[in-house]
Amino acid sequence: MRTPIIAGNWKMFKTMAEARAFAQEAKAGNHTSGVQKVICAPFTALAALKEELAGTDIAIGAQNMHFEEQGAYTGEISASMLKEIGVEYVVLGHSERRQYFNETDETVNKKVVAALAAGLVPIVCVGESLEQREAGETADVVRTQTEGAFAGVNAAQVADTVIAYEPIWAIGTGKSSTAEDANETIAIIRSVIGERFGQATAEKVRIQYGGSVKPENIASYMAQPDIDGALVGGASLVADSYLQLVAGAT
Ligand code: G3H
Repeated sequence: MRTPIIAGNWKMFKTMAEARAFAQEAKAGNHTSGVQKVICAPFTALAALKEELAGTDIAIGAQNMHFEEQGAYTGEISASMLKEIGVEYVVLGHSERRQYFNETDETVNKKVVAALAAGLVPIVCVGESLEQREAGETADVVRTQTEGAFAGVNAAQVADTVIAYEPIWAIGTGKSSTAEDANETIAIIRSVIGERFGQATAEKVRIQYGGSVKPENIASYMAQPDIDGALVGGASLVADSYLQLVAGAT
């Protein structure tokens, strides 16, 4: 059995003070067990969030990192810098980074390798655009992105990562994929992992759905056999809503 994982992705929202306020509320209302909880915050809020969440089972994640250990890369952050402040997860290859910051399958792969080497758990995002979906290319797109992200990574490492399937057309639009459609594509991603890394790895790797997930629809996704949780943007910004998502994942 795979432990469900609900990751909030705050994107470019929340100051340090706002992150602290969220953490205090989340701590007070955090009564659900059996679900892995992660909040992926802006770099500037991570240390404060870690401090506030100390002693709880809510882990923190970053939303990006550089693949080099250190160097003249102005404005970048390395995996070891994240580790030092207690970060456990890192979102890699989010479609917003692919779209606005020129992330490619190759850079995502380098980041996955660097994150694993540093002991961070990557949450690797894959997903098709509306145009690709309408052209019937969804399976090919997620296959290419999945194979690309994990090139050169060994099966044991892949088994411990998290993959997030996020159809781009469903992100922040209120147009969520049906649970059945999401499950179908996630099953394809799992079979790609199986072909490349073996059945045991495919059965262990956790694959989330992301795209307009809310407390009202989380249960429908969790009822699907291949969906192991959610990567949530908007609905993770309010502590009570995040906790409802977690409760809905059990
Ligand atoms: O990383 C999260 C996703 O991009 C989904 O965002 O829940 O606001 O649609 P959303």
